[in-house]
Amino acid sequence: MDFSPHDVSLKFRERYNINPLLVRAPGRINLIGEHTDYNNGFVMPAAINFGTYFAMAPADDGITEIFSLKYNEAFHVNLNDEIRPVKKPSWVNYLLGVIHQLKQQGTLKPFKCVFGGNIPIGSGLSSSASVECGFAFALNELNALNIDRQKLVLMAQWSEHNFVGVKCGIMDQFASMMSKKGNVILLDCRSLEYSYSPLQLLEYSLVLCDTKVKHALVDSDYNTRRQECERGVARLQKHDPKIKSLRDVDEALLWKHQPEFEGKEFDRCLYVVQEIERVQAANRDLKENNLKSFGARMFDTHRGLSELYQVSCKELDFFVSVAKQHPGVIGARMMGGGFGGCTINLVQKDVVATFVNALTESYRSSFGIEAAIYRVALEDGVNIISNKELRSVL
Ligand code: GLA
Repeated sequence: MDFSPHDVSLKFRERYNINPLLVRAPGRINLIGEHTDYNNGFVMPAAINFGTYFAMAPADDGITEIFSLKYNEAFHVNLNDEIRPVKKPSWVNYLLGVIHQLKQQGTLKPFKCVFGGNIPIGSGLSSSASVECGFAFALNELNALNIDRQKLVLMAQWSEHNFVGVKCGIMDQFASMMSKKGNVILLDCRSLEYSYSPLQLLEYSLVLCDTKVKHALVDSDYNTRRQECERGVARLQKHDPKIKSLRDVDEALLWKHQPEFEGKEFDRCLYVVQEIERVQAANRDLKENNLKSFGARMFDTHRGLSELYQVSCKELDFFVSVAKQHPGVIGARMMGGGFGGCTINLVQKDVVATFVNALTESYRSSFGIEAAIYRVALEDGVNIISNKELRSVL
């Protein structure tokens, strides 16, 4: 079920009868650069007009309470206790990790919080990063801790690693916190240097197609991919200690040492090295307004993710093959961690409707599943929702 800022604010007033601070934390898309972030490569994400909304205020009764609209469930935290992950409910861990981090920066006052949003879970649009980032931002405001955004990004990622157990890269939290309306971010995940580029799609649109499937073991498979890359780096490091990550490796070096790799390690590393290169080429395409070339690289990324990195699934592959055959679709690939969720498609504006129909109908008849389609706009990173804005959306 979807919740708007208005739903969140209303529930807050109903439960606590006070005026809250309201914060919006967006989900993200990623144009290209998948599974490159934790390999110190480049990514090209942007925040979107789907988000998680937080209402928060100091607690007069000294009892910290967090209420999830989605689960219709409240959770109490004693801020004086040592903060540890809990077995249940699991939604709390995203937030507890953030509290754990913020407590090291200053004193947190007891608070009340209600949150909910409209990012489809498991779609690859980073609902978890938006939860961590929005919560960190709101607590930082409420307690006037003055922690800068980039530090909040790292705290949000820490929470995901240590309280949720997913060893994610930096992309999702960075995009949710740092994005600029109408722009994509080119982020160097090694130095955290970044730049914004206005996204001009000319006669094309971005269309997200959601398979509505999320296969089991997504998180553990994600961590396994990361380990396979790290094992690959360790092998190459024996020859050159200067190699710290796959960012420091080129294809020729990989091929030279291919016989030393075990299992799937080589394929995983090959995909990542090619993808890091591809993002830089795609960035040049964007600068030259060469969207056809950009789109062709999206197809290449998908092939790599499906065949070498093996994080796709039959539903995602089906979506990309339908896109490839449809005239006017110039690029498509799975987006995010994989094993389900969305594809991102670059589609000529005048064929969007026929493409969407062709895709949804063929998916229904082949898989019996109703796809969801999202047309996204690129938005600012986490921000405060003013009362004026709230009134205007009513
Ligand atoms: C998930 C992770 C990100 C990134 C992507 C794949 O969204 O949270 O850090 O690794 O998968 O690109």
